[in-house]
This record gives sequence, C-alpha cells and structure tokens, in this order.
Amino acid sequence: MNLKKIVGFEAAKEVKDGDIVGLGTGSTMEYFITKLGERIENEEIEIMGIPTSYQSFLLAKELNIPVTTLDEYDIDIAIDGADEIDKDLNLIKGGGGAHTLEKIVDYSAKVFIVIADENKLVKNLGNFPVPLEIISESVKPVFSALRDMGSEPIIRMAKHKVGPVISDNGNFIVDAKFPIVNNPVQLEKDLNSIPGVIENGIFSQMTDKAIIACENGIKKINF
Ligand code: A5P
Repeated sequence: MNLKKIVGFEAAKEVKDGDIVGLGTGSTMEYFITKLGERIENEEIEIMGIPTSYQSFLLAKELNIPVTTLDEYDIDIAIDGADEIDKDLNLIKGGGGAHTLEKIVDYSAKVFIVIADENKLVKNLGNFPVPLEIISESVKPVFSALRDMGSEPIIRMAKHKVGPVISDNGNFIVDAKFPIVNNPVQLEKDLNSIPGVIENGIFSQMTDKAIIACENGIKKINF
C-alpha cells in the first residue's frame, strides 16, 4: 500500500473552491499537488498555490496550478509533509532542505494541516536529526554552539553534486542530531537564537490538524 499516495490524495479533499493554498514540499506532497491539479481540471475549481520550494513550484506549473506569492495573498490553508510528528503535533521538517520557506508559509496559513504516513508518528521528536539552514560563513560558531547543546551536527552533503547541499535560498543545510527532544518549543527558540542560523526544522505549536495514513485506514487528529 502506498500510504503517501493515499494521504496525499485524501488531503486534496480539504481544499475548497477559491482557496489560496500553501503547497508544501516532499514526496508526500507530490501526490497532494498532483491530485489538486486533477481537481482543478476536472471540477473547474479556482484555487491558487503558494509553493514552498522549487520542487513544488515546478510541479504546480507543470500541472497548470496557478501560483502566487505571500505578497499578493493571505493563505487559507497550507498542507505539508513532515519527517516526525509527536503527540502534540509538533514536527521535525526539512528532510528536503526546504523548511525555511515551509515554516513561513505554514505559519502564515489560517489552517495548517500536516500529512504523513503512520511511520512518521513518534512519542518524542529527535530520532530524525533537526535540519538547520545556515549562512555558509557561520559553520564554525554554529557547530560550536550546537555541540554545547549536546548535538552532533554534520553538513548535509549533496548526492549529485560535489560538496554540500545548497538550499533554494543559497545556504548550507546542517543536520543536528539530539539525543531526545524533550521540549521542542524551547529548542526551536534556542536554535534560532544562534547567530548564523536562518531557520531550524522544528515546527512547534503551529499544526491545526494531522491526516495520517495507516495500514488500516485514514486517521484525522485535530489539535
Ligand atoms: C521538506 O523539506 C520536508 O520538510 C518534507 O516535508 C519532509 O521531509 C517530508 O518529506 P516526505 O513527504 O518526502 O517524507
């Protein structure tokens, strides 16, 4: 069973005619955006998307989903994937390195829905390293601060390019593994207070609803 596809298609039903939709990033979102494109074509609904990455921008354009910007419109609903989801719907995101714009878009939305397969549900965040987008000149002081916080940071390296991953915004991505994240609200603030860190991948206290695809069906959790 392709749980990412099931949940992506299910989430597309949440969008209403006339909505401005935040388009998250990742493989689960590819299914959501694809289904949204089908709905626009088949049901003739009028929506506009605000992408969170080149990935979602290019897919939206390919599927003839009109795109706009936060300068032009407020977001009615944002849908996005996650790498980990705890019981309070705090998230780790940024496995695709797009968490900075994802956070801006998801946070700005009137309603933010996270979608994932059940494997992303955890008791406590922290098995997945926390991604940080950082200014390239700040590697040494940022690593020093992260080590003081008990983390083991690494620079994310590219697979089809030599050297590091460069984000959509032209910056480095660092993956910081913490033993366990007991207080995601505080950690999110602490990480963003390190000079050189542009944004980190902890999304605390901002999810309104989760749609989770399980082997035995769809589960919807309202916060
Ligand atoms: C992108 O930077 C991430 O925040 C993704 O939303 C997250 O990694 C989930 O990705 P998948 O849907 O591909 O698992």
